[in-house]
Amino acid sequence: MSSQEQTAPPAVWRNLDGIAYGGDYNPEQWPASVRLEDLELMKEAGVNFLSVGIFSWGLLEPSEGEYDFAWLDEVLDNLAAAGIKVALATATASPPAWLVRKHPEILPVTADGTVLGPGSRRHYTPSSAVFRRYATGITSVLAERYKDHPALALWHVDNELGCHVSEFYGDEDAAAFRAWLERRYGSIDALNAAWGTAFWSQHYSSFEEIQPPRAAPSTLNPGQQLDFQRFSSWALMDYYLALLAVLREVTPGVPATTNLMVSSATKSMDYFDWSKDLDVIANDHYLVAADPERHIELAFSADLTRGVAGGDPWILMEHSTSAVNWQPRNQPKMPGEMLRNSLAHVARGADAVMFFQWRQSFAGSEKFHSAMVPHGGRETRVFQEVVGLGAALQKLAPVRGSRVESRVAIVFDYEAWWATELDSHPSQDVKYPELLRSFHRSLFLRGVSVDFVHPTASLEGYGLVLVCTLYNVADAVVANIASAARAGATVLVSYFSGIVDEQDHVRLGGYPGAFRELLGVRVEEFHPLLAGSTVKLSDGGVGSVWSEHVHVNGADAISTFTEYPLDGIPALTRRPVGAGSAWYLATFPDGDGIEALVDRLLTEAGISAVAEADHGVELTRRRAEGRSFVFAINHSRADATVRVAGADLLTGERYTGKVPAGGVAVIEED
Ligand code: GLA
Repeated sequence: MSSQEQTAPPAVWRNLDGIAYGGDYNPEQWPASVRLEDLELMKEAGVNFLSVGIFSWGLLEPSEGEYDFAWLDEVLDNLAAAGIKVALATATASPPAWLVRKHPEILPVTADGTVLGPGSRRHYTPSSAVFRRYATGITSVLAERYKDHPALALWHVDNELGCHVSEFYGDEDAAAFRAWLERRYGSIDALNAAWGTAFWSQHYSSFEEIQPPRAAPSTLNPGQQLDFQRFSSWALMDYYLALLAVLREVTPGVPATTNLMVSSATKSMDYFDWSKDLDVIANDHYLVAADPERHIELAFSADLTRGVAGGDPWILMEHSTSAVNWQPRNQPKMPGEMLRNSLAHVARGADAVMFFQWRQSFAGSEKFHSAMVPHGGRETRVFQEVVGLGAALQKLAPVRGSRVESRVAIVFDYEAWWATELDSHPSQDVKYPELLRSFHRSLFLRGVSVDFVHPTASLEGYGLVLVCTLYNVADAVVANIASAARAGATVLVSYFSGIVDEQDHVRLGGYPGAFRELLGVRVEEFHPLLAGSTVKLSDGGVGSVWSEHVHVNGADAISTFTEYPLDGIPALTRRPVGAGSAWYLATFPDGDGIEALVDRLLTEAGISAVAEADHGVELTRRRAEGRSFVFAINHSRADATVRVAGADLLTGERYTGKVPAGGVAVIEED
C-alpha cells in the first residue's frame, strides 16, 4: 500500500525545484539562430528539464574515433546558463552508418530470418558483442566529457529499449539465449523436464542443439517460447546494465534511467523486473486518438507505471502536446486536453511532465508529430497551452514527492501476460489486459484509486485485491494472495488463473489448481465462448469470452449460468476466508455486470471514492506528511461539483466546489 510518509525525492530532483517540465531537445536539427530563440521560448514556457542527444551518435562521432562535440558543448553551456537541467542521453539509440557498414552483424534479425537494415533507427541487437563495444565506447567518451557539467542531472540510457523490435533471432542472439538457458537450468535434463520435451520428440542432448523459437511448421514448444520471452526482456536489460556500468564508473553520483513504454499495449518487457536497476522510473505515453476513452487508458498506464515504480514518484519522459504522426489518422488534441493529460499523469504519481519534443522538426519522418513549439511558432494554440501548462506546474511544486493513496490492488504480472497469451490455448480471446482494464475502468469512473502490484509484492493494507487471468503462478504467489484474504481483504480471482506453475505445467486435479483450496471451487472443463457469443447469468447479467463447468466445494454460488449445457452451474462464487473472503469469477461480465460486481466488492471491502463528485470527473489523492492533495480532472463538457474543502493550488484561491467543464482543480485539503 502507498505509504503516507514523504519519501526523499529521487536524486534526479535535487537540482530541480517542484515538478520538472520540458521534453526531448534535438538542437542538432537547427541552426544557431533557432537555438538562441529556443532559450527565449523555454524561459517563457517555464522549461527546466530537457533530454538531449538521444539520436546524436552519427553527428557526435561522424567517423570511427573522430568526435565533434562543439555543438553539444555550446548547447549544454547555454542550457546551464539558463538554469535548465539535462537528462543527457548515451546517444546509442541509432547506430551511425559507418558502424553498420563495418559491422553489419550488429543488425537485428526477425523470427523468419529477415535482417532489419539501417536508414531508420534502433537497428542493432542488444546481444551483439561488437555493438556493445562501440555503444559502451561512445557512452564512456560522453561520460568523461560531461561528468562535471553543471547541466547534467540524469543519464538517459539509450531510448525506449525494445521499441520497434523487442525479440532478436540472429546467431549471436541464439548463442546468448543458450548461455542464458544454461545459467537458468544448469543441466540439459532440467531443461528437458521444464520444457516437457517428451512431447513431439523435442528432446535435447545438449544446449548446443537449442535455437530461438524461429519460424517453424507448427506451434512451438511453450516452454521455449516463454523462456525466449524472458530471455528477450533480460537481454535488453543486460544491454542497459552494460552501459550503466560505464556511467557508474565515471559518474557514480549521477542517477540513470531509461524511458519505458508502460501501457496497456506494451507486452514484451518485464518492467517490474527492470525497475530494480533504474534510479528513477521514466515512462513515455501516447494516446490512441481513435479511442474515445483514451483518458482512461492513460490512467491505466500511469497507474501501472506507478506500480512499476513501487509507488515512488516517476518521470513522464515523453507524451505529445497534440497529434502524433504514426497512427492511421493523427488527430490533434482538443483544447485543454494536453493540460488534462499532463495533470492526470501528475495525479497518478508523476513528478515530471515532458514531451516528445521541444521543437517540431521540419525534415525527417517525424515532421508531422506535434511538439512544444509547433511549425507555426509561438503564436499558436499549442505553444500558448505549453506556456499555460508551465505556469500550472510551477504552482504544483508542493505536490512533489507525495504519494498516491489507494486501497484497491490489481495484481499485474508481465510473465502472466506472456503465458496467458501463448498459442494453443482454450481460447485466443483471453487477452491478459482486457479484464484488468475493465475493472480498472469501472474503478476509474467511480473515483476509486487502484495500485498495480506485482504478485510477489506485499498486499498488506489493501481492502480489495483483484487477480485477473493470472494463468501461471508460483506457490509463493498463491500464499501471498491467500494471506491477503485471511488478513481481511476481499480477494477476487478470475477464470484462467492458477492453471499452471512457473514452467507452464498444468496443476492437476481440477482447475484452477493453484487456487482451488482458497476459492473452494473445482473446475471440470472449460467452455470458452465462440466469437461474439454470450451467455446469460441468473442475476440478469451477461458473460462473454469464457464459461466453464464449476463445482462449489466450500464456496457459495452467488450467480449461475442459465444456458445449456451449463444451466445452473456457478458463474460467481464467494467463500469466507479468515477475516476476508475469496470470490471466483467464471466469465467476463458485460459493462453492467462489472459495475454490479465492483459495487458489491467495494461495499464488502468498505472502500469509497476519493470524494463525492459528478459523473465525468477523474479523482485521485496524493499525500505527503501532514498534507493531502486532491486532483479533480473534469473530462465532461459541463461544470462539475466535487465535494472537497481546501485551497485550489492552480487558482491560488479557496476552492469553490466546482470544477469547470474540461478543467482541473488541485485542492490542498484543509
Ligand atoms: C517515441 C520515441 C521518440 C519519438 C516518439 C514519437 O516515444 O522515443 O523518439 O519517436 O516516439 O511519438
